[in-house]
Amino acid sequence: MSKQILILPGDGIGPEIMAEAVKVLELANDKYSLGFELSHDVIGGAAIDKHGVPLADETLDRARAADAVLLGAVGGPKWDKIERDIRPERGLLKIRAQLGLFGNLRPAILYPQLADASSLKPEIVSGLDILIVRELTGGIYFGAPRGTRELENGERQSYDTLPYSESEIRRIARVGFDMARVRGKKLCSVDKANVLASSQLWREVVEQVAKDYPDVELSHMYVDNAAMQLVRAPKQFDVIVTDNMFGDILSDEASMLTGSIGMLPSASLDANNKGHVRAMPRFGAGHRRAGHCQPVGDDSVGVDDAALQLQPGCGRGRYRKGRQPGVGPRAAHRGHLVAGLRESRYAGNGRCSSRRAAESVISLAPLVADAGKRAHFL
Ligand code: IPM
Ligand code: MN
Repeated sequence: MSKQILILPGDGIGPEIMAEAVKVLELANDKYSLGFELSHDVIGGAAIDKHGVPLADETLDRARAADAVLLGAVGGPKWDKIERDIRPERGLLKIRAQLGLFGNLRPAILYPQLADASSLKPEIVSGLDILIVRELTGGIYFGAPRGTRELENGERQSYDTLPYSESEIRRIARVGFDMARVRGKKLCSVDKANVLASSQLWREVVEQVAKDYPDVELSHMYVDNAAMQLVRAPKQFDVIVTDNMFGDILSDEASMLTGSIGMLPSASLDANNKGHVRAMPRFGAGHRRAGHCQPVGDDSVGVDDAALQLQPGCGRGRYRKGRQPGVGPRAAHRGHLVAGLRESRYAGNGRCSSRRAAESVISLAPLVADAGKRAHFL
């Protein structure tokens, strides 16, 4: 059965990552006759250059028709001065909204071999394996009204709105509980219920949903405390479920526990979940501008994202606790891989290129295949 995969490399580091991810996908495709049919299109700055908009309607239609979309990164200095409504990031927000990709899975995993890549003490972070489930199509990112008005005294005032409906909260809470159920059975819902009305409803609805998951231990935490706990004792968490903006911030914080956002994948799922895995980047232009991420190289994220597409059960199963991500997710093989990456990263020019990452993965493939366990490779 053929599966259509739409590749949207985006800008900056995106095409570089994607070229390697595609090699890995093609390798798996050939080896296991998976029937993947890859096609390419543009998003972000590349789409602005070609179509004048960051996501053309025909690209959106192709994404809708595809079984999965693999997306790189968007944005860059070239498009910095463009007005907000057609900035490269709008392409990302549009594809999320239009495809209903409300469930964003952002793991932060630190292999013991990389413990000293973190800025935190190794004992605090070694073996870290947490998952942030971020609501991706609601809240303040999309809330109306928003805009700028003139006050009576003549000064301008800008405003955004943070709305959450019960159904929006319920469906993301379910993703959180489902994930916790197949991992460590602990879910922490993060909100600001001591201040925000939307958070009060969030907490209430999460409590209701919890009744269907008696086997999962639910806790609640205010977002400011969660930010603190993530650097104090991150291993206390298993799955965190939170809203769009808190998830944006906390997932960056969590990624840095592992030393680099560049090594971590992300998936954005729609309500079908099955067959609709869409890998989304963990970083946008902002991160690169801020110097959090090297503009070229230093990333194996595309490789991991490609692996995510290959995971049977489409994405969610991939984030089971203890199930190591990446192509060839057997812990030992993965361990060798990351150790190799680490060496090339901290020796020499201090960087590991996507190509090097892909080569490492590809070189491990026969090892894993030899073990005769296809599921381990996929
Ligand atoms: C992310 C990014 C995006 C977001 C930007 C680029 C719009 O920061 O995926 O986390 O804020 O969601
Ligand atoms: Mn972000």
